[in-house]
Amino acid sequence: MGIESSCDETAAAVVNDRREILGEVVLSQLDEHRPFGGVVPEIAARSHLAHLDRLVAEAMRRAGLGFADLDGVAATGGPGLIGGVIVGVMTGKAIALASGKPFLAVNHLEGHALTPRLTHDIGFPYLLLLASGGHCQLLAVEGVGRYTRLGTTIDDAAGEAFDKVAKMAGLGYPGGPAVEKAAAGGDPARFALPRPMKGKPGCDFSFSGLKNAARLLIESLPQPLAEQDQADVARAFQDAVADSMADRVRRGAREMKSRWPAARHLVVAGGVAANAALRQVLLRIGNETGLEFLAPPLKLCTDNAAMIAWAGIERLRLGQSDDLSFAPRPRWPL
Ligand code: KG4
Ligand code: ZN
Repeated sequence: MGIESSCDETAAAVVNDRREILGEVVLSQLDEHRPFGGVVPEIAARSHLAHLDRLVAEAMRRAGLGFADLDGVAATGGPGLIGGVIVGVMTGKAIALASGKPFLAVNHLEGHALTPRLTHDIGFPYLLLLASGGHCQLLAVEGVGRYTRLGTTIDDAAGEAFDKVAKMAGLGYPGGPAVEKAAAGGDPARFALPRPMKGKPGCDFSFSGLKNAARLLIESLPQPLAEQDQADVARAFQDAVADSMADRVRRGAREMKSRWPAARHLVVAGGVAANAALRQVLLRIGNETGLEFLAPPLKLCTDNAAMIAWAGIERLRLGQSDDLSFAPRPRWPL
């Protein structure tokens, strides 16, 4: 059993070690947060509390199992909004205690990082781009619990930049899908935005300068933005993000190949992985650098509980579990 409640998705899933998702439920809180233009932590925590029990029961029902059939109970132990994490951890501990099964507190980022092994039969090591609303990292995944960070954002996460630019351009929330949709009708040649970090050594990311340039561009246009202006800004912004990320990931792929010659795959996870322009760029980089590009299906790229259950399985196989005294962690670097 896996439980996820670290942000604005309440989710429960039952997964087995043959990589089958037996029962899965995800409840998005989007509608509750939309009026505020972003996730409100207190609303999120209360909503997790209101719904998690029912979702756990529903995931079990879909799997056709009872708690006694489980081999372990995994819950996201952090990083994330602490109120929500507490709800998930306490629920997971209660089920584990009542059914006498091992409890595992899973690092949410590890859940994303191991997802490609749930969806594809691949071995370690591989290169992972994790790009979500809260994170933007390039990781060498060497094994369970063995991650080397090749690059990270020095300011905003990629998804956060998408969300802020969408808000400034009047495209609504959540921003990523809105920007992608608007960009489809945008003129790529009308506006030029900077490519942060391009050509710089290392593999770190940066998006705040680009976000600021987008803000200045938006402010220079007649308000509120006309639909074509929105589309052209969205296209310029998305192209700049994809181009900047391409440069960073290309460097990361080369570093990966030289330090871990056994690496065969480039994989992507996190909500930003839904972006088709970014996927296209990653596919090209994979071809260029000799790494096969893999992207889990969208519902497993965004926050979900199957990835937490799977990370629990990977850790259980290594004989690991956690104590019921585990304290939820708002910050928990991989
Ligand atoms: O992984 P996720 O569901 O939640 C966490 O942040 O952990 O990622 C959500 C982020 C949001 O910032 C959202 O705007 C972004 O992923 N996103 C996208 C797209 N779909 C979602 N960004 C760009 N293009 C998309 N199509
Ligand atoms: Zn996430």
